Amino acid sequence: MGMISSSIARKVAMALSGLFLVFFLAQHFTINFTSVIAPDTFNSWSHFMGTNGLVQGILQPILIFGVVFHFVMGFILELKNRSARTVKYAQFKGGANSSWASRNMIISGLVILAFLGLHFYDFWIPEIVHKYIETHPEDPTRYYAETVHKFESPVRVGIYVVSFVLLILHLWHGFSSAFQSVGFNNKYSKGLKIFTQVFAVAIPVGFIFIALYHHFNQLPH
Ligand code: HEM
Repeated sequence: MGMISSSIARKVAMALSGLFLVFFLAQHFTINFTSVIAPDTFNSWSHFMGTNGLVQGILQPILIFGVVFHFVMGFILELKNRSARTVKYAQFKGGANSSWASRNMIISGLVILAFLGLHFYDFWIPEIVHKYIETHPEDPTRYYAETVHKFESPVRVGIYVVSFVLLILHLWHGFSSAFQSVGFNNKYSKGLKIFTQVFAVAIPVGFIFIALYHHFNQLPH
């Protein structure tokens, strides 16, 4: 941690890990959206991702490190900002200075972290157990039915939908400010800001659609 002690370096590290997770979200949405439009493609892509050595052995550990790093750095930055703010409270004029989304990144971040806890319990841990602990004979067609059944419970779907709404708020500020933190500030910034805000709404709304679609299109047991 000594290496990234300066606040600028911390902000850049936070922004780069955020941009990495945004890239993950785009790929994760693309794969999961096929579960709505092309279940066979979803099965073959999930089987590839689930059994490919590069994905399982290198990319997934990097992803999990990226998620943990982003959250730990988020807490450190929040604590540092709070201690700085108490000193300069007089100058801080609440809403006038910033949007709710930017002032509450820690709240939307915590909700996403809680969602990931449930999500790992729902999908990732069963995958790890299936592949590396119980070692079932591989069935490349199992993923679609397993995913659809997860969305039978209205409570789980409700939690997912609320989490995805907070994901909109987190991305709305986080995605565009990440580019500012890495110093990307030029004539393309205006267009880029519009792209980041369209992404911030479209991807979580897409995830909400996937969850609701599977909830209302349950497979017969
Ligand atoms: C309806 C929406 C979603 C569906 C259907 C879905 C489905 C899945 C599935 C099937 C897996 C297990 C993949 C595997 O390990 O073989 C998984 C893992 C994962 N999901 Fe999601 N997911 C959704 C939304 C999200 C969102 C919004 C995030 C981030 C905020 C997210 C983050 C992750 C992460 C980090 C993993 C573990 C790494 C991985 O295995 O890819 N997911 N998800």
